[in-house]
Amino acid sequence: MPRLIYMTNLSRNFIEHHTVDFLRKAGGTRPDLRVVDTPDGKIVVKDFKNSDTLFKLIVGPILIRREYGALRKLIDVQGIPQLVGKIDRYAVAIEHIPATSLDNHIDEALTDQFYDSLRMVVDKMHERGVAHCDLRSRGNVILGDDGKPYVVDFAACVYLGRGINPLTRALYKQFVLADNNAVLRIKMRLSPHLLTKDQLDALDTPLPFERPAKAFGVFIRNLTRRFLTRK
Ligand SMILES: Nc1ncnc2c1ncn2[C@@H]1O[C@H](COP(=O)(O)OP(=O)(O)O)[C@@H](O)[C@H]1O
Ligand SMILES: [Mg+2]
Repeated sequence: MPRLIYMTNLSRNFIEHHTVDFLRKAGGTRPDLRVVDTPDGKIVVKDFKNSDTLFKLIVGPILIRREYGALRKLIDVQGIPQLVGKIDRYAVAIEHIPATSLDNHIDEALTDQFYDSLRMVVDKMHERGVAHCDLRSRGNVILGDDGKPYVVDFAACVYLGRGINPLTRALYKQFVLADNNAVLRIKMRLSPHLLTKDQLDALDTPLPFERPAKAFGVFIRNLTRRFLTRK
């Protein structure tokens, strides 16, 4: 893959005219996700410009900044589509990975080795100070055509910034545990026969903050849907 990092001269006009596919069309709280052909390779542009107006104006820039900030910390991490650059406050560009969603029929491709690699990607991400927090959502882990796992969608992530203190570190630790647990839950959903005895035991043990964290997530999501979208 050619190095695309920080190719910042992408204009909206170029993006518009070189879009070859849409992974998703914008609507409500969802962004447009275009595949754009550039001289340096294909990229994905995530863009809130056509999402609901209030969501676009208030939340869009926060999510884009979050994704951009996380991807900057994850430069050269295998298994993370690499950052290309920020287009403007509503859109970010990322390396395109030829891949299939895990929820398509790909049982035979999901081997022990696949899950071990996924865990390695997640560990490396944590070493860089980024916790994903939404690994369980369908589509945020994809199977590359090279047979390897890739983690996408850092809109909801948490990363360690300058103000690290014992409290933020303890909180971060909880998010790390939740990510590790999410990897096991993907395995349980798609390849339960591969789970080891230790993994089954781990899945039976609830995480200390699992329930309050989940309730908080649902609350925030409902709140933003209710107040920031038309429907
Ligand atoms: N860099 C990428 N390369 C290939 N496919 C991608 C890439 N980023 C996202 N996708 C595909 O687009 C889908 C939606 O992207 P995602 O970042 O999860 O957006 P959303 O915030 O709307 O969930 C993913 O499930 C994945 O299938
Ligand atoms: Mg997603």
